[in-house]
Amino acid sequence: MERLQKIIQKAGIASRRKAEELILDGKVEVNGKIVTVLGTKASITDSIKVDGKKIKVEEKKYYLLNKPEGYVSTTDDEFNRLTVIDLIPVQEKLFPVGRLDYNTSGVIILTNDGEFANALMNPKFNIEKEYSAKIGGLLRKETSKTICRGVDLGDFRTKKAKIFNVEYDNKKENTTLNIVITEGKYHQVKRMFDKFNHQVLKLKRERYGCVTLKGLEKGEYRRLKIHEVKKLWNLSENG
Ligand code: URA
Repeated sequence: MERLQKIIQKAGIASRRKAEELILDGKVEVNGKIVTVLGTKASITDSIKVDGKKIKVEEKKYYLLNKPEGYVSTTDDEFNRLTVIDLIPVQEKLFPVGRLDYNTSGVIILTNDGEFANALMNPKFNIEKEYSAKIGGLLRKETSKTICRGVDLGDFRTKKAKIFNVEYDNKKENTTLNIVITEGKYHQVKRMFDKFNHQVLKLKRERYGCVTLKGLEKGEYRRLKIHEVKKLWNLSENG
């Protein structure tokens, strides 16, 4: 159940303030009865009419996809490459929450809830994103510490990060590790390592806030559970 003015706003009929005016002016009906009391609650399954016209509110849907490499995470691509939307054949018009590069795999959340997506992408909130990475060269402890303290990438300075599970392949001269960051700037992880001449060879997002890839093969998706959606909302609000 939600406040009527919020439902009208979500249906794209009017702003919240205008919706309140419509209610006070007796222009809103719920299940055949005119409602003029602000704050009255209704459900999107009720029959709600504004000026005699039934409004339609799309149910909000939230999906988690294990993105494979070779897909762009926009809704369409100027080069006609496959997109993450191609992997979730559902009716709703979904869009991804943030982006993963074409050659990055792992956790990506998709939704038709714009408010939710905007809240999660707000840079003000420090939602953790954990990646596993393989980088060229052997990462020195000092470099790792410097990266964790935050590095100047020219256009911005990264916030504190965590690096762990560091393993070296001395023969192939590369390093695998996990890194947790709280921002989501374009190519951020790649740029953080590039700065110290370590090329990121492979990158996978293992976790977004409380959501992990557990049980999902590459290319598979599932609906997020209500408690996961709530937790993500809380993370965005409480940072
Ligand atoms: N950082 C990157 O460099 N690429 C991604 O896809 C995600 C984070």
